[in-house]
Amino acid sequence: MAVFLILFATSIFLIYVWFQYKFTYWSKKGVDGPKPVFLYGNIRDALRRKDHFFQPYCDSYIKFKHLPYVGMYSFYRPVLCVNDLDLAKRILIVDFEHFQSRGIYSGGPNDPLAENLFNISGKAWKQLRVKMSPTFTSGKLRTMYPFVESVASKALSYADLYYSKGKPIDFSEFYDRYAMEIIANVGFGVECNILTNPQSEFDCCAREYFEIKSLYWSIIRAFAFIAPDLFSKLRIRRISPKVENFFYGLVKETVSYRQKNNYKRNDFLQTLIDLMNGQIVNENGDIKRVHDFPFSMNSVAANAMLYMLAGYETSAKTGQFAAYQLALNPHIQTKVRDEIDRVLAKYDGQCTYEAQNEMVYLNMVLDETMRLYPALRAIFRRCNKPYKLPNSDVVIEEGTLVFVPIQEIHMDPELYPEPKKFDPERFAPEKKAKLHPCQWMPFGEGPRKCLGVRQGYIQSKLALIKILQKYELLIDERTSVPLKLKTSCLVWAAEGGVWLKLRELNNNNDK
Ligand code: HEM
Repeated sequence: MAVFLILFATSIFLIYVWFQYKFTYWSKKGVDGPKPVFLYGNIRDALRRKDHFFQPYCDSYIKFKHLPYVGMYSFYRPVLCVNDLDLAKRILIVDFEHFQSRGIYSGGPNDPLAENLFNISGKAWKQLRVKMSPTFTSGKLRTMYPFVESVASKALSYADLYYSKGKPIDFSEFYDRYAMEIIANVGFGVECNILTNPQSEFDCCAREYFEIKSLYWSIIRAFAFIAPDLFSKLRIRRISPKVENFFYGLVKETVSYRQKNNYKRNDFLQTLIDLMNGQIVNENGDIKRVHDFPFSMNSVAANAMLYMLAGYETSAKTGQFAAYQLALNPHIQTKVRDEIDRVLAKYDGQCTYEAQNEMVYLNMVLDETMRLYPALRAIFRRCNKPYKLPNSDVVIEEGTLVFVPIQEIHMDPELYPEPKKFDPERFAPEKKAKLHPCQWMPFGEGPRKCLGVRQGYIQSKLALIKILQKYELLIDERTSVPLKLKTSCLVWAAEGGVWLKLRELNNNNDK
């Protein structure tokens, strides 16, 4: 027993010494930063879920704002936190070839859904990005638009039902379901009625993916960030088999039905099937042959999953927080409604693709919403080629993670006076055009910037357009003002939800 205790104490001591040695990494390079603690580095509270995952990097911006960059540790791994906008521009845009990957472990050979555009890097990413970009042209989005519009009409029926029962609506739940129904419809080509059927298998499996409840999968997710190389060597599964089997099976079945029956649908899944068939088809049906680009069934399934991974929480949260701010700011809500009425009158009351595009003020409202609540509170990259920081001797080594804490950049009073004030005028087109490219980054920046920006605006705003024509939004007492950040989610989510009451326009009864 004594021998065991001595061995145990010696091991702890050696691990402690090893960590202390690792923690000299930045000081040896002359880079300042917050003091790390044994085992955790600078992410202890985030790991214990007392803080949000990205909070340490946001705190570092506030504390070390006078420095262009700060050295931190995620466990023992060095992380560079970038505070200076010009340096962020170098890393994300100008010198992108040194920072091409996000550095998350995306999954092993048993994870057919993990190899999607968001997760991969290097040559495979570059090729796929080029091939997938035509999917997001305005012409293509116009052909997919009727599906989104039909889901937004269902969302209005959902609101009508709640109003008729005199119940307030939790816009977090409502927008989550609405966004998921769009993903099912446009991304996977299936209609699941998620808005009316909370038991839908699609929604249940998707929630299991996003709202991880078991400790095992929480740890796997955290370590996919922290120890990607170790995970890669161990070939650990990244997604639970239940979730993987459901979505893979669904895509396979749908693809085989379409291929067998020569059935085509103008959705995102079809563009992936076309790629598998060696084609890029534009909105007019013109076919361009694609050579030397292997795109398998796994690629189709993984990139259908990409639509969910990248387009669900992001657009759902943006829509619900915009609704919250409109309820808090009735004069802005009235201005948005006036714009909706004016534009729709021009289009005979039809909310067409062109009509929603003309709603400039509503876009400004979404921009200001994403300034306050960027879905991803930090943008991250992994250095893939040594990089000498401009005007210094510091070399960033391959494998180092780099974080840009966009939430705190968005809240910096020197960049945005009265940063807590909701003021869409900051994003009037002429003002937005003059912003530093890294001053407002809810969609990221550079060659890895969000590919679905336009689709993101459409999804976030369509349900709002429908509802604001008929109802006034009011804050319900259950909603925290200001909103409280949920620490258990990777994206910006509101603790306790966003509860709003509806008042039918031209009828003074609010319910
Ligand atoms: C309001 C809604 C949305 C927001 C706020 C948003 C935000 C983001 C952010 C922050 C990133 C990371 C960018 C970076 O690392 O620089 C990203 C990547 C991406 N997003 Fe979005 N997104 C939205 C909607 C969508 C939608 C609807 C799609 C459709 C599929 C989409 C597709 C993608 C893709 C494919 C990437 C990865 C691009 C790459 O790595 O090459 N996003 N998005």
